[in-house]
Amino acid sequence: MSHASTYKPQTAIERWLDKRLPIVRFSDDFMNFPTPKNLNYWWTFGAILVVCLVIQIITGVVLAMHYTPHKDLAFDSIEHIMRDVNYGWLMRYVHANGAAMFFLAVYIHMFRGLYYGSYKEPRELNWILGVVIFLLMMATAFMGYVLPWGQMSFWAATVITNFFTAFPIIGEPIKTLLLGGPAVDNATLNRFFSLHYLLPFAIFGVVVLHIWAFHTSGNNNPTGVDVKDVKKDTVPFHPYYTVKDGFAIAVFMLLFAAFVFFNPNGMGHPDNYIPANPLVTPAHIVPEWYFLPFYAILRAITFDIGPVSSKLCGVLAMFGSIAVLFVLPWLDTSKVRSMRYRPVAQLWFVLFVVACLALGFFGGKPAEGWYVLGSQIATAYYFAFFLIILPLLGLFEKAKPQPKSIADSVLKKAPASSVGAIAQPAE
Ligand code: HEM
Repeated sequence: MSHASTYKPQTAIERWLDKRLPIVRFSDDFMNFPTPKNLNYWWTFGAILVVCLVIQIITGVVLAMHYTPHKDLAFDSIEHIMRDVNYGWLMRYVHANGAAMFFLAVYIHMFRGLYYGSYKEPRELNWILGVVIFLLMMATAFMGYVLPWGQMSFWAATVITNFFTAFPIIGEPIKTLLLGGPAVDNATLNRFFSLHYLLPFAIFGVVVLHIWAFHTSGNNNPTGVDVKDVKKDTVPFHPYYTVKDGFAIAVFMLLFAAFVFFNPNGMGHPDNYIPANPLVTPAHIVPEWYFLPFYAILRAITFDIGPVSSKLCGVLAMFGSIAVLFVLPWLDTSKVRSMRYRPVAQLWFVLFVVACLALGFFGGKPAEGWYVLGSQIATAYYFAFFLIILPLLGLFEKAKPQPKSIADSVLKKAPASSVGAIAQPAE
């Protein structure tokens, strides 16, 4: 929702600058951006994610000053950071736990988008850019995990890159290109370090586009109803949402700090404190928790489908689980944006969240017995939700009436005595 700029340069310097590089006008517009007045706390996760990205880049750059990307030195350089470098332990624990917190926030952000239909017209591109960011985040985290050169680093890299060989003809060359040779070795560590340093800046660039996109379409809101009257339905971003986002960031930081200071290795795997050894395979190779649902999908297909091997089917299912997100805006046929007014869709959504959590659980278990069956059921539901349920629901469900406007929905909830007080600033 583009709005006419109200910025008026006051001083001669401001006027000079405004003609040449209107950066003050830009930040003024940014701060005054008309934002729906009914955004709840689920909308604070975008700002939380920006903070996470900045924290990862700053701590990462400092860590890179002391880290050595060589197979004989990498593990020891991490111990050097932990023991000798001033506040090195803090940088490392913030960076490692920061990755997990980043994923926690991004998953909440994505489920929020799903529930409130933020991917629907006119925000399709906003969503697609989000999925691109998500893919880049996964690539970055995967390569970052290899850098400490512990047992899990080494074997995770071996297992995951090996899955590419499932593709006929192109599989082996892709694997060789990724690893820089036939197996995980020094060349792998070098290129992973180089890309792990580069990709966060690519993420930063896509985040700029992501924010630009919703500044063009305007934010969605919990009702999903479009802004009709800028004066009645919106408030300026600052101070209303700078304060709300600031509060949410502070609370999020408390949780983050609790991990960093009280259980810094809680989300890690003890085997990664054993130096990488190509001759000893760990008993269970498990990825970090934020990859577990995708790992479960990868391992869920235990049978060949026609001429396609089970291994290739698993890899295709894993890539497909992300690919389906790209086309989601065109799969959901409902004209009603927010699930707040779609009681039947709400039930299927809750089941979807349960399926994702279940996939996370099964991904952490060995692929045997009923764990396999469980992950197969959850995988089937994951795809059915996008490919069958959402397309059909939109055609058959009966939605509840939506409010006429954002202002209407806000005022209706308020007790009669306070209606005047709330309505006033909007007049
Ligand atoms: C580094 C990662 C990311 C950052 C920094 C980021 C940042 C933001 C910000 C600041 C907002 C506006 C505030 C809000 O709605 O919470 C936003 C909105 C949005 N984001 Fe993201 N985002 C990220 C990842 C993603 C991902 C992975 C997706 C989905 C796959 C996504 C989808 C959306 C959508 C659809 C909106 C519009 C929401 C609305 O207006 O209702 N974002 N993002």
